[in-house]
Amino acid sequence: MNPLLGRLQPYPFERLRQLFAGVQPPASRRAISLGIGEPKHPTPPFIGKAFSDAVSSVPSGLAAYPATAGEPALRAALCAWLKRRYALELDPATQVLPVNGSREALFALAQTVVDPGPTPARNGPDAGPLVICPNPFYQIYEGAALLSGAHPYFVAADPARNFAQDWDSVPETVWSRTQLLYVCSPGNPTGAVMPLAEWEKLFRLSDRYGFVIASDECYSEIYFREDPPLGGLEAAAALGRTGYKNLIALTSLSKRSNVPGMRSGFVAGDATLIRQFLLYRTYHGSAMSPVVQSASIAAWADEDHVVANRALYQEKFARVTPMLAEVMDVALPDAGFYLWAHVGGSDTTFARELFALYNVTVLPGSFLARDVGGHNPGAHRIRMALVAESAECEEAAQRIVQFVRSRN
Ligand SMILES: Cc1ncc(COP(=O)(O)O)c(C=O)c1O
Repeated sequence: MNPLLGRLQPYPFERLRQLFAGVQPPASRRAISLGIGEPKHPTPPFIGKAFSDAVSSVPSGLAAYPATAGEPALRAALCAWLKRRYALELDPATQVLPVNGSREALFALAQTVVDPGPTPARNGPDAGPLVICPNPFYQIYEGAALLSGAHPYFVAADPARNFAQDWDSVPETVWSRTQLLYVCSPGNPTGAVMPLAEWEKLFRLSDRYGFVIASDECYSEIYFREDPPLGGLEAAAALGRTGYKNLIALTSLSKRSNVPGMRSGFVAGDATLIRQFLLYRTYHGSAMSPVVQSASIAAWADEDHVVANRALYQEKFARVTPMLAEVMDVALPDAGFYLWAHVGGSDTTFARELFALYNVTVLPGSFLARDVGGHNPGAHRIRMALVAESAECEEAAQRIVQFVRSRN
C-alpha cells in the first residue's frame, strides 16, 4: 500500500460526524445545515436540456471516447468566457484545458508539478519539496501535496488584514524548497479576494524560486462588492506577464451555474504547464464526457443565469449578515458563499451545543485549519455556508442569535 495514504487527515465532515456522535437534536425543530458548501440554488433548466439533448442526439454523445483535451468548441467557449470576464485573449489550442470539476484538477496538478526528488515526504518534513497552502484552507490542497511526495507548509490568514496571508513570514529556507503554492481567491472559508499587490509579490517570489502558482477561483462569480474579484490571470496580464509563466488558474461551473453534480471546470494559463498536465491527464484517464462538454458550452455561454444567481446570494447575505452581526464578530465577505465568524470561545463546543439545542449545523473553524506553532487560525471561528434558500438561512440565523443570547 502507498504509505503516503496514511498521512491524509480525516475530512472536516468526518470530524463533524464524530463531534456530533451521540447528540440528539430536538425533533421539534427541523434540521438546518449551514455545514456543507454545496450550492443549493436550482440548476438552470437550459443546462439540463443541453445535457439531455447531447445524450439523445444521433450519434449520441455517449457513443465515442472523448479526447482528454476536450472538443475545440468547448475550448473556444472557455476562451470566449475568459475574454468576456477578464478581457484576456488565450489560445484555445494551448492555454486552456477542461477538467472534471476543479477539485480533481487541484489534486492532479500537484501530481504533475511536484518532483518528489530523492527525499520524498515519507522521510519527514525537514527535507524534500514543499507545497505552500493558505491556513485555513480547502483540504484537497493538503492531500494533493502529501500524495505528490511533498510536505504542506501553511501560511496563516491574518484577520486584521482581511485574511491576507503574510507571505513575508515565510523564511527563505522554505521558499527555496517550494515547488507549488495554492492561492484560494475568493477564499474558502474567508471569502477574501487577493489584491494585485499580493499577486505582484507572489509572482516575484515565483520568478526567484521557480514554483508554480495554482489559483483556485471556483467562487469568482459570487461576490458582494461592485467590482468582480480579480483573477490570477487577470493580475498577471495587468503586470505584463502575458505568458502566465508558472501560473495556472482553476475555474468551475459548480458554484457559478449551480451544477456541482455535473463535474465541470477548466484550467488556464502557462502553456508549458498545460501541455504536461494534458500528458498526465491522458494517462490518468480524466477526459470529460462529451455530454458534459455540450452542457458546459451552453453554461459558459450564458451570463444571465449567473447574474440572477449572484443577486440571490447578495440578497440573502444582506438579510442574514446583520442579524448575526448583533451577536458575533462577522462581516460581509468580498465574495464566496460563506460567513466566517468569530464566536469567542471554543468553536467545537459552540457547534456541538448549537446542534444539540437548535438543530442547526455549522462547521467549527478549527476543522478547516492546522495548528502551526501552537496556533490554529480557525479556532474560535465557525463557517456558515449560506447555500439554502433565503428563508431557511434566516431561520438558521434567528436560532443562532437565540442560542448565543441564551449562553451570555
Ligand atoms: C475552495 C474550493 N476549491 C475547489 C472546490 C471544488 O469545486 P468543484 O470541484 O466542484 O469545481 C471547492 C468545493 O467546495 C472549494 O470550496
